[in-house]
Amino acid sequence: MSVIITRRDFLKGTAAGAMGLAVTGLIGKNAPAYAEEAPAVMSPQEAIARLNPQDYDYRSKDTDFSHVFSPWKLGPFEIKHRMVKSAAGSDTGRNPEEWLHYYEDFAKGGVDMIWIEDFADLYNNFPSTRKPARDTVPFQELADRIHALDGHLGYQLSTMSFNSKDMTLDDVHMLQEDFINAAVYLQSQGLDAVEINAAGNNVGQTFFSRLRNTREDEYGPQSFENRARFVTEIVQGIKEKCGKDFVVQVLMNVIEEDDQNMGDSSLATTVEESCEFAKLLEAAGADSLHLRLGPIGRHICQFASELYFTGYGIEGTNGYGAQFDFSRHWQGKLVANHSGCGLLLNIVQEVKQAVSIPCGGVTYMDPAHAPKMFDDAIADGKLDFMMMTRSLCCEPEYVNKLREGRLDEIAPCTRCLHCHFDYDEEGKTYEHCRVNVATQRAWREVMPEGPIPLPAEGEKKVMVVGGGPGGLEAARIAAERGYDVTLYEKKGFLGGLLPFASAIKGPHENLDDFLAYLKRQQEVKGVKVVTGQEVDADFIKAEAPDVVILAVGGLRDTLGFESTPGTTVLSFDEAISLDRIGQEVTIVGGNCQAVDMAQYLIAHGKHVTIVSPDPKDKLDKGQSSWVKTFTLPMLYSRGTRLWPNASLAAVGDGTVTIKSETGLDVTIACDTVIEAMDMLPNKALAEALDGMEVYCVGDCEKPWNIAEAVTAGNLTARKI
Ligand SMILES: Cc1cc2nc3c(=O)[nH]c(=O)nc-3n(C[C@H](O)[C@H](O)[C@H](O)COP(=O)(O)O)c2cc1C
Repeated sequence: MSVIITRRDFLKGTAAGAMGLAVTGLIGKNAPAYAEEAPAVMSPQEAIARLNPQDYDYRSKDTDFSHVFSPWKLGPFEIKHRMVKSAAGSDTGRNPEEWLHYYEDFAKGGVDMIWIEDFADLYNNFPSTRKPARDTVPFQELADRIHALDGHLGYQLSTMSFNSKDMTLDDVHMLQEDFINAAVYLQSQGLDAVEINAAGNNVGQTFFSRLRNTREDEYGPQSFENRARFVTEIVQGIKEKCGKDFVVQVLMNVIEEDDQNMGDSSLATTVEESCEFAKLLEAAGADSLHLRLGPIGRHICQFASELYFTGYGIEGTNGYGAQFDFSRHWQGKLVANHSGCGLLLNIVQEVKQAVSIPCGGVTYMDPAHAPKMFDDAIADGKLDFMMMTRSLCCEPEYVNKLREGRLDEIAPCTRCLHCHFDYDEEGKTYEHCRVNVATQRAWREVMPEGPIPLPAEGEKKVMVVGGGPGGLEAARIAAERGYDVTLYEKKGFLGGLLPFASAIKGPHENLDDFLAYLKRQQEVKGVKVVTGQEVDADFIKAEAPDVVILAVGGLRDTLGFESTPGTTVLSFDEAISLDRIGQEVTIVGGNCQAVDMAQYLIAHGKHVTIVSPDPKDKLDKGQSSWVKTFTLPMLYSRGTRLWPNASLAAVGDGTVTIKSETGLDVTIACDTVIEAMDMLPNKALAEALDGMEVYCVGDCEKPWNIAEAVTAGNLTARKI
């Protein structure tokens, strides 16, 4: 049987028209028809763009969210809408006050069903010294608070410390007993539900998986029953001890693929196998299923799967310098043309059709981002509920704002992954949200007052200078506190470097949405915005504000080389015009701006060399370590040569000479040099304001990245 799908159909793709095909498993077979349409000769960039073409038309707002806000049944509970907070470790867990507030805030923001991650020491046979003792965690108080807000609370039971193949039969039974007794304890503390995490690298997955499970007993890979037995017996045990009304949800990989040794997926779990597991779990008493992607190599993509879509023009990057063909990999079943948004929708539907319990999917399930797509997905029975974390962390009031139609007030997730085990310049853990400065800070030392800033201390006139992300965030917070705030921007538009960043990063990071949100916040919070107004010290003094927050941006450094007939030297800002850029480009600088520019130019068919003054491991500094994990291998695999610890010695006529780290000079062909060195601080204006209360935020204080500019703006406005 052959299936003919036109290129246009393919672009509309897996999300809409191909639903029926996905269900019958045929969509992967569209590849030959698609290939037939390819011209015989293509430029490299055409070929690259054809591999996983993206369609950004999926973001229609044309919906009333009536399906997203329809109720559904989870065990004995009626849950008010389809947006569920999924468990997320490492974004909580400093002190009991934080635990209580952090989750309570999601309930206040309108989330009904909240799952908390496995972070307490609950396993008797296998205790943990790393986790807080169970009696130090105020479970009962938390459950009471969530119930008082008419919400429901569940706890995820998980562990990655075991692998089925290494466990004795006694280990298996003792760990099952631990899961069951933990559920009994949590029920005694007032919780409504537990989730068994049997996905990713968690122990349950090592039983489900034919790749990992080599046991020869009744928990081995010989049959679906045996593979599922570890989990089904836990579900049965919990139901026996806690009663049928205590909800048990199972989290499992719904489709697996070896993303490291691509193509070597013969033992990976297929969607068809997942349907069999789903039936067994339902028969054992599970109330719901939480379905997730199951890559074998990149753990991060087991949940932040949209990283396969990060970087300009490298959609499908697998983090090892190669690229998926989404029309064939993952059984051709992922919604792979929307930058990772809703990528599991069609697969969840397949499992949902195999069982009668509710099925939810996770990763970039974000109805504020793609309103109609997700409302239709619920209406069309693709899934029953959406498990969500990062968009709710960016905007804890997400659900209430969505319900009230205040979409333009929802802070969007920009998919940067600073929030998950990221590291700062010194290699210290840096786990923060780029958008919501309060996430992973509130109730800790730096923000003891919690996410809501304290009210103004008396009346103050605050002047913010600079309309980039740091200035916009500072103005927003200062105005929220009740100060009289005016923001001045010398250009005719707001955003600072954000529009530029958006242009060279592409749409994946949602920076246009972030800017739109920040602009709208100026209106919502009552900031007076003046654009097209250059501000100097005399102007500021004449205005006589009580507080000045300078967010004027950093200074661009220059190499001091002149252009020659064969080699044009461009400043970073000039490099936005592709028509001034030749084929052989040398970018000087190793920061994230330099690397984003390199990626952008490669996608446009240029050859790029990077000359960085920094060591190799500092390349792309300022970028989150997870984004780097995906973009850098692709940079190298597309031929970029990095010269670390190097400098530009000379610009010739059609060449440049690099002073390499060995001390030797190397001359290469080059028709364009782009100066992308680190920015320099820019404090001249501050120094001219002697005697005034002045703060510098963002690049003018310490040039780094978007997250740090927003953070500085927020924290500074909190302390004035
Ligand atoms: C900081 C962080 C920690 C996480 N920890 C867990 C965890 O402990 N257990 C789990 O099942 N998922 C965890 N996740 C994954 C989330 O539950 C969710 O699957 C993922 O963020 C994708 O959903 P999103 O696109 O709505 O953020 C974590 C995610 C983040 C960002």
